[in-house]
Amino acid sequence: MILVIGGAGFIGTNFVLRKLHSNVDREKVIVMDALTYSGNLDNFRTVKNNEFFTFVRGDITNENDIESILEKYKPNSIINFAAETHVDRSITGPDAFIKTNIFGVYNLLKQSLKYYEKLPRGSNRSRLSIERATKETFKFIQISTDEVYGSLGLNEPSFTENHPFRPNSPYSASKASGDHLVRSWTKTYDFPAIITNCSNNYGPFQYPEKLIPLVINNCLIGKKIPVYGDGKQIRDWLYVDDHCTALEKVLKIGKIGETYNIGGRNESTNIELVSLICSALDVYVKKKKEHPGESFKELITFVRDRPGHDYRYSINAEKIESALNWKPSVTLEIGIKKTVEWYLQNKDWMKNLNH
Ligand SMILES: NC(=O)c1ccc[n+]([C@@H]2O[C@H](COP(=O)([O-])OP(=O)(O)OC[C@H]3O[C@@H](n4cnc5c(N)ncnc54)[C@H](O)[C@@H]3O)[C@@H](O)[C@H]2O)c1
Repeated sequence: MILVIGGAGFIGTNFVLRKLHSNVDREKVIVMDALTYSGNLDNFRTVKNNEFFTFVRGDITNENDIESILEKYKPNSIINFAAETHVDRSITGPDAFIKTNIFGVYNLLKQSLKYYEKLPRGSNRSRLSIERATKETFKFIQISTDEVYGSLGLNEPSFTENHPFRPNSPYSASKASGDHLVRSWTKTYDFPAIITNCSNNYGPFQYPEKLIPLVINNCLIGKKIPVYGDGKQIRDWLYVDDHCTALEKVLKIGKIGETYNIGGRNESTNIELVSLICSALDVYVKKKKEHPGESFKELITFVRDRPGHDYRYSINAEKIESALNWKPSVTLEIGIKKTVEWYLQNKDWMKNLNH
């Protein structure tokens, strides 16, 4: 049994649906989520009657929520996606970031260690290990970001797992703190945890405050597309399904106590990316009468840069590629096409969100 915390958000949803749709292991999936603005129970409508799926509303900042769910379900692994995740919100209101991303992770570690210490010993080869948690099989995976490493210049080498932490926003600082706590639990208490630091994800179910769904949404409603500064900031983009396949490998064969960087080998400037989305939409969508222009690119408008905006993120993912034999499989062009198609086919999903 796996406990997916923060599973009703963007990446968590993709992870859970993927797992349930191809559940070769017939493993039970328990999703715990506080359902903040970015968590959406409706994401699970295709699996709500699936016998392997259970949803529990719970908050990682609340000790009782964690304790009772661990006692009741006795998971064999925990994967933590729960976080406050939007950099702009962290600038205007850091409180929630400190609370969830630092205090919440601490709470989760404290309760998880207590639970782990009470687990029985057992064989790690047993088929039963999927159903019955033991000390030998239990794993805790903390999902984190490449933003903890700070910003790179154009010609600097990509972030390896040994790159120093130099977070520049309240979001990345709070995630870095969470990562440090997890690491310390592995070193101090021999807690069997692994940390993953991933580059920017995109794909279905992403809340439209993030760049890619924001651009798609604005195009569809004929609203200007805000691009920070000169749009030359560079990000490495990973299609969310590729992130999920990496996490499946980490869960199965990742080494306890390690950190794995996960990246898409898809670096792009923001302005190139926005243009790519506009071109993909140009193929599918007839312009509204009010916006009869040639391309959605005409909606692009440059706005004042975000304070402390990092210039470049770039992931060196050689460790996970060689140690766990994982590689991203979706190019940026194909991934954007798939994403645009998904948002066009799921306009109601966007309409029904808590904006
Ligand atoms: N989206 C990216 O590009 C990206 C890249 C690298 C790493 N990450 C990390 O991946 C994880 C998931 O990101 P996402 O993009 O899916 O975020 P998201 O904002 O879409 O989802 C976060 C989920 O966490 C839940 N949550 C928030 N506070 C909670 C709390 N106190 N208790 C329980 N649940 C809570 C929310 O309800 C939501 O369902 C985060 O830890 C994030 O830092 C994201």
